[in-house]
Amino acid sequence: MTPSINQQKNLKQFLSLQSNIPADLQHLLIAVSEACATISGHVGRGALADIAGGILGSAGSENVQGEVQKKLDIISNDILIEAGQRSGVLAAMASEEMDEILPLDLTSDLTSSSGSSDKQQGNYLLLFDPLDGSSNIEVNVTIGTIFSILTAPKTDATEADFMQPGTRQVAAGYVLYGPQTLLVLTTGDGVNAFTLDRENNVWLLTQEKLSIPADTKEFAINMSNQRHWEAPVQRYISELLAGKTSARGKDFNMRWVAAMVTDVHRILTRGGIFMYPRDAREPDKPGKLRLMYEANPMSFLVEQAGGASTNGKQRILDLQPTKLHERVAVFLGSKNEVEQVTGYHLE
Ligand code: F6P
Repeated sequence: MTPSINQQKNLKQFLSLQSNIPADLQHLLIAVSEACATISGHVGRGALADIAGGILGSAGSENVQGEVQKKLDIISNDILIEAGQRSGVLAAMASEEMDEILPLDLTSDLTSSSGSSDKQQGNYLLLFDPLDGSSNIEVNVTIGTIFSILTAPKTDATEADFMQPGTRQVAAGYVLYGPQTLLVLTTGDGVNAFTLDRENNVWLLTQEKLSIPADTKEFAINMSNQRHWEAPVQRYISELLAGKTSARGKDFNMRWVAAMVTDVHRILTRGGIFMYPRDAREPDKPGKLRLMYEANPMSFLVEQAGGASTNGKQRILDLQPTKLHERVAVFLGSKNEVEQVTGYHLE
């Protein structure tokens, strides 16, 4: 559903009208959205950015996954960290680009008149992939930020406090840096999209209650990995490729941007199934994508839009995380297709 131009609420107005979003969570969402508007400005300047050597290209370092960090990965990470610190409502943050969590102490030891130390900390934990699909930066293809918000413990936050299943997320979303800059958000009551009015630097509600059709004729997978897949994925994809000549009885089309955020946005817009299965290249790792700041927020959004998301066997949102940068196989999107491929894994 698209609201008419004169009905468009901005993000602040929209959040203030939602009865399920406490004021400090609204504040955090605004802080994240402002940080992403700043990142959007950097992405948009590309080679014009005022940074020695330009903004495009490698930062000359690697993240904890062993992936080359781009300058824009680091800049985006710093912008989100600064916004999270300033928000004053976080207990800790975690990012794809940081090996460990970043705990925050809001009051840095307020000492009371009795001499006792009275530490305070915020109510939330923020996780993010500051720039997903960053291999697309140089080729000027859409990339994005993905984020997930959990509630925090009452005492000093540790990595163990982040180990909450995706069902416990209180909000999740992504921002797409494409022809338009879009924020797609859920707080557990459907999925709504906001477009950044770049001239006025304000997010306007442009799509309400996004909905993923249960059936689709479109799939997204990196076909070059075919020889490494397990049998259920081989079976499912061979049927999609055979199309009308298989038991499926219809032809399928394929799309692969190699930026999860962009592939998932296409699915939230017109349906489809996105897959990054585990494969034989790294048998000790259950897939390429990260559970806590990629698969969980995307699964929350997809389910809120009426789709489904599994690791082939289980609902992703039910998985109990065991470490911050844990990986997971992902099958998400149109419900009937996700059920079909999950069924093949369970047979
Ligand atoms: O975060 C990892 C990621 O960049 C995803 O955004 C994307 O879906 C995937 O990797 C692309 O992987 P590949 O390069 O194997 O196609």
